[in-house]
Amino acid sequence: MQPDELADRVRPALTGTRFGDLRWVDRTGSTNADLLVAAQAGAPEGTVLLAEEQTAGRGRLGRTWSAPPGSSLLCSILLRPPLAPADAHLATAAVALAARHALAEVADVAAGLKWPNDLVVEGDGGTRKLAGVLAQAVLDGDRLDALVVGIGVNVNWPARLPDELAEIATAADRVAGHEVDRTALLGALLVRLDAELADLATGEGRAALAGRYGAACVTVGQDVRVELTDEHLVGRAVGVSPSGHLVVEVTGDDGDVDRREVAVGDVVHLRPHP
Ligand code: BTN
Repeated sequence: MQPDELADRVRPALTGTRFGDLRWVDRTGSTNADLLVAAQAGAPEGTVLLAEEQTAGRGRLGRTWSAPPGSSLLCSILLRPPLAPADAHLATAAVALAARHALAEVADVAAGLKWPNDLVVEGDGGTRKLAGVLAQAVLDGDRLDALVVGIGVNVNWPARLPDELAEIATAADRVAGHEVDRTALLGALLVRLDAELADLATGEGRAALAGRYGAACVTVGQDVRVELTDEHLVGRAVGVSPSGHLVVEVTGDDGDVDRREVAVGDVVHLRPHP
């Protein structure tokens, strides 16, 4: 199916949501890069861009994101959330929660959230990545002007994959045991996201969203190693704060427990000691 037809199939489900401007293109460098330019030029909240193929897909922490053409949802969403930059995690968490909901509803796939924003499933010899989220902010001084949240969901993968993907990742069709309708998945994701984002308007709503994120977060309760910019922590992840930060308890040599809140970092789940 052509990208225009894919977009036409999704639009009816989005009536009444903030996602009134949806475009799906054949190929681009990075949908996040494109929407960052659009955000700076004043494009409104709710602009959505998808591509069948990205030639310079961006991942977190300066990594690249690669996906076989036509196999995924490669989607960026322009938001202008009523949040301070330090709370932008919550808008990103809303996208991860919406994707988790859509995978369950459309494909009967139960994914967990690995902090900060990976969707993972257990199987095939360990934890495998099903989707990743990358948020990029546009700041106006101290104010969050826009947030471009990009998500790559592995949906229908070819049998043969590049080794670097085959070893660590999986796709919804492999977990479900059948092909998954990408347009139904996108529609369900955006409809759920519209509702999740409504919670950002109040303190009570934000706390509720962080609570839903924490409940779905498989990192909580795990022994973790957290890579920070200039140090690392090893400890037990014990929760997610109302801002969406990971709370880690680190036990010192003297037995004292130090509670640290991590806003940005890369997490490795450590295997429990035998
Ligand atoms: C991660 O590293 O886990 C985040 C990956 C995010 C990939 C998506 S694909 C659509 C959007 N455009 C990009 O260039 N990246 C994001």
